[in-house]
Amino acid sequence: MQAFAPGRVNLIGDHTDHTGGLVLPMAIQLGTTVTGWRGGDRVRLVSADEPAPADVGLDVGDPASATPPWARYVAGVVSELRPSQGFTGEVTTTLPLGGGLSSSAALEVAVALALGLAEDDLLTVARLCQLAEHAASGVPCGIMDQLASAAGVDGSALLIDCHSLAVTPVAIPDDSEVVVVHSGQERALAGSAYAERRAQCEAAQDRVGVLRKASLDRVDSLDDPVLRRRARHVVTENERVRDFAAALAAGDLSAAGRLMTASHASLRDDFEVSTPTLDALVTRLSERPGVYGARLTGAGFGGCVVALTRPGAITGEGWVVRPSAGAHLQRLP
Ligand code: GLA
Repeated sequence: MQAFAPGRVNLIGDHTDHTGGLVLPMAIQLGTTVTGWRGGDRVRLVSADEPAPADVGLDVGDPASATPPWARYVAGVVSELRPSQGFTGEVTTTLPLGGGLSSSAALEVAVALALGLAEDDLLTVARLCQLAEHAASGVPCGIMDQLASAAGVDGSALLIDCHSLAVTPVAIPDDSEVVVVHSGQERALAGSAYAERRAQCEAAQDRVGVLRKASLDRVDSLDDPVLRRRARHVVTENERVRDFAAALAAGDLSAAGRLMTASHASLRDDFEVSTPTLDALVTRLSERPGVYGARLTGAGFGGCVVALTRPGAITGEGWVVRPSAGAHLQRLP
């Protein structure tokens, strides 16, 4: 059997998922494939991109201590799913590894389907793989990456309410293109800084109530300047996601682009997850003719920038990504 799970790029709405806010990612045509057969009491996978295989017992203990490092994600899924039989096969991917397009979420989702999780139970797949990611990496991520990979829709991005977990497809206009460019900067310290930001959002919520419902006035009353900035990013970003979905639906690409640029400024100044390298790349891409807007995408601290453009506006660098269907399983003859 063969399981495929796409990577994702987030168009707008970063660091909003872990407080139950709004995000607008899309599953992309690049992804990870797991091919093989079920049976036995171990999950053994070789990878074309890794020198050592992942070999995980069904009774695996702590996924974070599995070796080699990529086996942690496999072990994370095994420990959350506890399948009754193992799997032997291989992993191939068209995603850049660790490049900010959720290669780890794609691996988790593909492994979960290969091990027997039902592909149409999107929320179960996404939640289980989110927990697998926590166990594997120690990073307390939200649900965006795994849900985008599971729930992708051909031709559309996904407006996700991370509180109700409702997923609403938002068509990407034909006369536009989404381009992802890697900054060349590895996401150093992303794990601990991510956890710190998440804790700051929670501390702000303890003072002003849930951020997805909080008003800007309420947030501005916070005494602590750091918590005030973090909360202001979340509250304004949720609003930008709503406006962005409406702009795409109206075909107003200029408005959508302006919201992306404003999102980047907020991630840079209020949430403080950008870097000079990411800022310079956003500025350089934004100055090109035919680019409506650009922003860092995902956790930040390095990684990728996403741009919304007229078709063909950015050539010779990065990946032109297309909104694609979500994860699926194929039974091979
Ligand atoms: C990472 C996490 C997501 C989300 C983004 C930031 O990709 O895995 O859950 O929080 O960062 O938006």
